Amino acid sequence: MRDTSFLALVVEEAESGEYVSSIKTRSIDDLPAGEVLVRVAYSALNYKDALSSIGNKGVTRRYPHTPGVDAAGTVAASEHPDFAVGDEVIVTSYDLGMNTDGGLSQYIRVPAAWVIKCPAGLGPKEAMMFGTAGLTAGMMIDRLISNGLTRESGPVLVTGATGGVGSLAVAILGKAGYPVTAVTGKAEAAAFLKSIGASEVIGRERLTESKKPMDMMLWGGVIDVVGGEMLAGAIKSTCYGGTVTCAGLVGSPELNTTVFPFILRAITLVGIDSGECPMAPRAAVWRKLADEWKPDCLPSLTTEISLHEVAEKLRELLAGKAKGHYLVRIEE
Ligand SMILES: NC(=O)c1ccc[n+]([C@@H]2O[C@H](COP(=O)([O-])OP(=O)(O)OC[C@H]3O[C@@H](n4cnc5c(N)ncnc54)[C@H](OP(=O)(O)O)[C@@H]3O)[C@@H](O)[C@H]2O)c1
Repeated sequence: MRDTSFLALVVEEAESGEYVSSIKTRSIDDLPAGEVLVRVAYSALNYKDALSSIGNKGVTRRYPHTPGVDAAGTVAASEHPDFAVGDEVIVTSYDLGMNTDGGLSQYIRVPAAWVIKCPAGLGPKEAMMFGTAGLTAGMMIDRLISNGLTRESGPVLVTGATGGVGSLAVAILGKAGYPVTAVTGKAEAAAFLKSIGASEVIGRERLTESKKPMDMMLWGGVIDVVGGEMLAGAIKSTCYGGTVTCAGLVGSPELNTTVFPFILRAITLVGIDSGECPMAPRAAVWRKLADEWKPDCLPSLTTEISLHEVAEKLRELLAGKAKGHYLVRIEE
């Protein structure tokens, strides 16, 4: 009889109402239906995984559950003509790790529509060094450039700069030759941010201290993952015609601004969602990440951990103590 057992992180609700994560043996037969079975080599940690691990019903409705919105590895079985056994593939977002068992596991089974072949130049390990954080950073940069950003437009402001999306955005922009101003709440991280591509590092208060409806025009474009006051501060100091991309809410989901930067400076505010982004633009960004946007410092942005260390690191992410991006080695 074939052995269908494998290891996965499983979050369960204890009798106390607390959510507890542990590594459990599961069976491939119990995975959700799907056309492609993937043997996962690497995953990555995201804020959504941390929320799923504490029972956040906005992310995951049913437990026991395996989180992990990111996975990369090789196809182990396929019922779809586009994928053959042995293909190296990436599966990120859609419902993976939310209400479909996710990538913090030795196997996932998913619809073929969620699967993308690793582009030339990017194997499963490097793909997960980017993960959803890198894909999102890439989508934001792609949008800035398609909206007219050039290397001469002025510095690109990146908020949450030491976090997953922020640090990858700084590094990709640096690699692509754009000047970058990184905003951080961690003064001690200035040297790190300069080493990965920032030309200037400023504190968060620089974006929030002014109470005026508009400030001096400073930023050629903006990558924001913080929301709230920092996004409002970025909008009112963006140069004429510039684009502000917004993807996150680690500071606040609120946005209090005025129409002045929009009607007097022709600013564009663009929302970015990597979760449901269609496959064609998603694949185009992965191809750039595999090639001209792959920073030399990519390995140094990543801390590699094993599946056994995931629960502790998810707690750090929730506490805002994480720095950079966690790559999870699934195979022992
Ligand atoms: N829309 C999408 O498709 C998409 C995809 C991925 C992630 N996201 C969202 O993007 C956000 C960032 O994700 P991430 O994975 O980069 O998270 P992360 O690794 O936890 O990084 C967030 C960073 O934001 C800064 N920060 C934390 N709390 C803050 C606060 N109260 N005020 C100001 N800055 C604060 C910190 O950087 P500094 O200390 O350097 O300031 C922190 O490292 C999350 O809201 C996530 O849900 C959205």
